[in-house]
Amino acid sequence: MAKLIGLNKIKTAVFISGTGSNLKNLINFSKTKKSPISIDLIISNIIKAKGLRYGNQYKIKKKILNFKNIKIAEKKLLNLLKQNKIQFICLAGFMKILSSKFIKQFNGKIINIHPSLLPRYKGLNTHSRAIQNKDKFTGCSVHYVTEKLDSGKIIIQKKIKILKKDTPKSLAKKVLKQEHKLYPKAILKIFN
Ligand code: GRF
Repeated sequence: MAKLIGLNKIKTAVFISGTGSNLKNLINFSKTKKSPISIDLIISNIIKAKGLRYGNQYKIKKKILNFKNIKIAEKKLLNLLKQNKIQFICLAGFMKILSSKFIKQFNGKIINIHPSLLPRYKGLNTHSRAIQNKDKFTGCSVHYVTEKLDSGKIIIQKKIKILKKDTPKSLAKKVLKQEHKLYPKAILKIFN
């Protein structure tokens, strides 16, 4: 019976560029009975991305793609996704912007996690911007990926209080902890 688990799950690829804590969290979630997805492929544009270690640890296929030439990279990527029968894509700290051509091929099937309460603070350095603006709250959002950066339909958000003593670093830590809860929730919301 245990061997059957995962067979009918939605084949998913996770794209990373860094630490991969969200990737690790998604892998653990994917192994639970309630998860509609299985993680079958890890993509990184960075050869030294720490998160790639989870490919070895959990025996998940991983591939590093050089995005210097985005056209070539995306062509290879599309082939890889096809070969591995990938149906769904989760971006988790992936620092490259995918072309609209690529996104169209996976329309409505790519999601991303972003460390702010979108539409506030699209792009980078979200925590320092929130502190600088003396915001009372920040948070994280999971959204569909469209051609416009961090602008697709929001699936779910979590609000977090900013304390006077918070720094961009302390805030990043707090938000990341919530991201790990929010990403699986978003996936359950999409597929249930
Ligand atoms: C997260 O804060 C995510 O929201 C952002 O990049 C960070 C990735 O962290 N897009 P990790 O690599 O999953 O640890």
